[in-house]
Amino acid sequence: MTTAAANIGVVGLAVMGSNLARNLASREGNTVAVYNRSYERTELLISEHPEAGFIASETIDQFVASLAKPRTAIIMVQAGKGTDAVISQLTERFEPGDIIVDGGNALFTDTIRREKEVSSHGINFVGAGISGGEEGALKGPSIMPGGSAEAYKTLGPILSSIAAIAEGEPCVTHVGTDGAGHFVKMIHNGIEYADMQLIAEAYDILRQAGGYTPAEIADIFTEWNGGELESFLIEITAEVLKQVDAKTGKPLVDVILDQAGSKGTGVWTVQTSLNLGVPVSGIAEAVFARSLSSQAAQRAAVDGLPADAVKWSVEDRTEFVEDVRRALYASKLVAYAQGFDAIRAGAAEYGWSIDLGAVSKIWRGGCIIRAQFLNRIADAYKTNPQLPSLLFDPYFKKAVAGAVSSWRQVVAKASLAGIPVPAYASSLSYYDGLRSERLPAALVQGQRDFFGAHTYQRVDMPGTFHTLWSGDRSEVEAVPSTH
Ligand code: 6PG
Repeated sequence: MTTAAANIGVVGLAVMGSNLARNLASREGNTVAVYNRSYERTELLISEHPEAGFIASETIDQFVASLAKPRTAIIMVQAGKGTDAVISQLTERFEPGDIIVDGGNALFTDTIRREKEVSSHGINFVGAGISGGEEGALKGPSIMPGGSAEAYKTLGPILSSIAAIAEGEPCVTHVGTDGAGHFVKMIHNGIEYADMQLIAEAYDILRQAGGYTPAEIADIFTEWNGGELESFLIEITAEVLKQVDAKTGKPLVDVILDQAGSKGTGVWTVQTSLNLGVPVSGIAEAVFARSLSSQAAQRAAVDGLPADAVKWSVEDRTEFVEDVRRALYASKLVAYAQGFDAIRAGAAEYGWSIDLGAVSKIWRGGCIIRAQFLNRIADAYKTNPQLPSLLFDPYFKKAVAGAVSSWRQVVAKASLAGIPVPAYASSLSYYDGLRSERLPAALVQGQRDFFGAHTYQRVDMPGTFHTLWSGDRSEVEAVPSTH
């Protein structure tokens, strides 16, 4: 039987869990208890990493007994039923004041439900989004914890000790209560999807219209990474494009099947945002683009659909590359702006007080969407927490102003050339919609009133109206508010 000596425990020792446990163990003052459903994996971890000084348990009872009070355990199992099973095992054994942390990619509504249930036993439940993949978990992720302020008192210092550091600050903040952390992680992933799709579209344009090879495009991305686009995703894209397949000698990107998978967080972002009425169109297009790519049978069946495309003749290559870069930057800003809008709307809906500036700061390091310009986003929300849209912040307004002409050129020419650019194009349309003084939504309202008496409001007087559509001239009637 083990003695109660660990200040923190990790349940679930697949790669993310093992790496997080090793990260915790490497920090001064931590003693880490580890437990996995099958003991072989635990044995492997402790034999491979004796330096970590793990306290290993074969059973959940031993694991719980090995934790000092208040007991704190981080669950790192695949989101879903497995998480519920571990939570109930721990809840049965933990005491009031103890802390259960779910570090998986849980759906935030599950986290809200679990928090309610677990806290009814006096036990703290914290849903914490953890980003950064395997390497982040080991060396320093970006951490987005929700849960109670009380739990964060114990948990905060532990999480700060393992988080990535960006400009001297640990990439962790108490995002808000119950599901706020997982909500913000979900939006992080939505932005991640958009960012990846936009980069992929930039690559496709450079390749199809510019005729550059993957290795040349890798160099272009490396150069871009030295400027305002500097980010982890741009950096790794260059690495992916440089890779040569050992078997065929071809660029690896050319031998990878062009069907993108997903584990669901992008879909959740879009579903949630639809419910909240927030147009995350760039993120949605990224999710749809993955779906379209995966429709293998349908794509094969329609092979030969006419394109009637116009060749994009690139005259000035430097200008062409610069146009693609600017369009990428502007589209990226739209994705972030939409993501932050969704966080704001989610916070209002679920009663969280989320500091958008603090969120952008903890995304500066460790996570997948880490990027230089998150500093600017943090500044924007610090200067004006009520900013109506990130695109309206003076710095970003100017940035988009400098890019918009290139953006239009790229979207127009890609469309003419038959190169699919769903995320570039929808981001530009969103931008144009947002800045339009008057939208054709007025006509949609008219149509709705015509076929369904759904009523409308007028620009020249208050109230609700319905038109009697029959006859040559429509007659307008004011609708009582009870209508
Ligand atoms: C992260 C990643 C991580 C995971 C995604 C990938 O922040 O570390 O987002 O959570 O890699 O879930 O998602 P897909 O498999 O859906 O692309």
